[in-house]
Amino acid sequence: MKKIIRKKKSNEVRIGLLGLGTVGSELANLIGINATRIDKEYGIRLNLSAAFVRDVSRKRNVNIHIPILTTNPDQITKNPDIDVVCECIGGNGFEETRQFILDSLHHKKDIILSSKKALALYAPEFIEAGNSNQVQIRYDATVGGGIPISKVFEASFRGDTVTSISGILNATSNYIYSKMENDQMDFSQALKQAQQKGYAENNPSDDVDGFDALYKICILTMLGMKRIPSPQSAIAQTFRNVELCDMQYASELGYSIKPLALADRVNGHVEYHVGPTLISNRHILANTFENYNSIMVKGNICGQLGFYGQGAGDKPTASAMFDDLLNLILSKQHNLFQGQEISSYSQIQLKEKNSKKYWRLSLLNEPGALANVTSVFAHNDVNIEKILQKNKHKEYMELVLITGIAKKHKELFSELSKNPSLKIENVLHVTE
Ligand code: HSE
Repeated sequence: MKKIIRKKKSNEVRIGLLGLGTVGSELANLIGINATRIDKEYGIRLNLSAAFVRDVSRKRNVNIHIPILTTNPDQITKNPDIDVVCECIGGNGFEETRQFILDSLHHKKDIILSSKKALALYAPEFIEAGNSNQVQIRYDATVGGGIPISKVFEASFRGDTVTSISGILNATSNYIYSKMENDQMDFSQALKQAQQKGYAENNPSDDVDGFDALYKICILTMLGMKRIPSPQSAIAQTFRNVELCDMQYASELGYSIKPLALADRVNGHVEYHVGPTLISNRHILANTFENYNSIMVKGNICGQLGFYGQGAGDKPTASAMFDDLLNLILSKQHNLFQGQEISSYSQIQLKEKNSKKYWRLSLLNEPGALANVTSVFAHNDVNIEKILQKNKHKEYMELVLITGIAKKHKELFSELSKNPSLKIENVLHVTE
């Protein structure tokens, strides 16, 4: 192994970066800008020793000298001259990321993670490797960008039971919905703009098909509810399934459509939902726009708390990682590490949450058509709470309903689908 630096000084922490893209470069710059102050205030010498990159010759916006840029990840993950690894690999290639993380842990390096996918899918494996090697894993940057949510869970709710976590966790989809709602763009136009802004991951599917939000709600469940959910046991509804007319009808009915993820503790289980959701305009979450995230946490003693901030972007993410880095070093200095508490958490399967629904139906515009539809809801014991009738065409009309919770949603859906004079255009989750 190539020797990286001169003999380590006693107060020195040697940092290796995995990835030097937009987040990695920003983190490198933050280390450079703050190193002198951190040395003065805390007596800690941050030494950015090496970075793993795919292409050494690529031009980067990094204002700090990094002694070693290498295309060999072992120079970071297995190098005895590195103390802490900061993983800034990003969205894709999570199997490779998993291996980098495990290699780092097995070589006794503390690690700061940014990859939510790797964490959500392999948390138990990482925690076990961290504990058996007596090193720490910190991962605030995996959820909510710059929102310090894992630090909140680490230091709060000690006397509470967290009963519910909900939030707008995917900044890209929230940006898209904001453009649809406020600027009347359609989904694909708004997605293009989100990509130009650099919010979307390399593969937009993770963002717009709900996977990213699902991984994040799994991580929040782990932090807040002390259960490790398996994302494979859950299905996210794609955020693509919203048209401009849905936005307009929702607004007429007093709602905004948002890319929501939630986890509720119900009788010892955790119920979840990830998908486009009508949220009452009175709710704080309905007023979260652009690339911002909001996270609401309910404790049985403290009640509802809310956290808000930029959920995507190099600077907020790097800021969360830098704080993780400093907190990790300080906790080690004070000998606070007792192993990852969550090694004792039980693993759970998530259950899908039943909810009120928004229906957009088109049906033949003829006598009795409305009665036929409403009677199906009536004999399935489902209350119609709000209704809009839009006569878009002479022959067809559009019917928009907000309905109460159906005990047997699938049966109701299939009965409505069998009606030849009716087409189900969209069904979305509703929360007040
Ligand atoms: N692609 C993510 C989002 C940001 O749009 O929220 C990184 O977590």
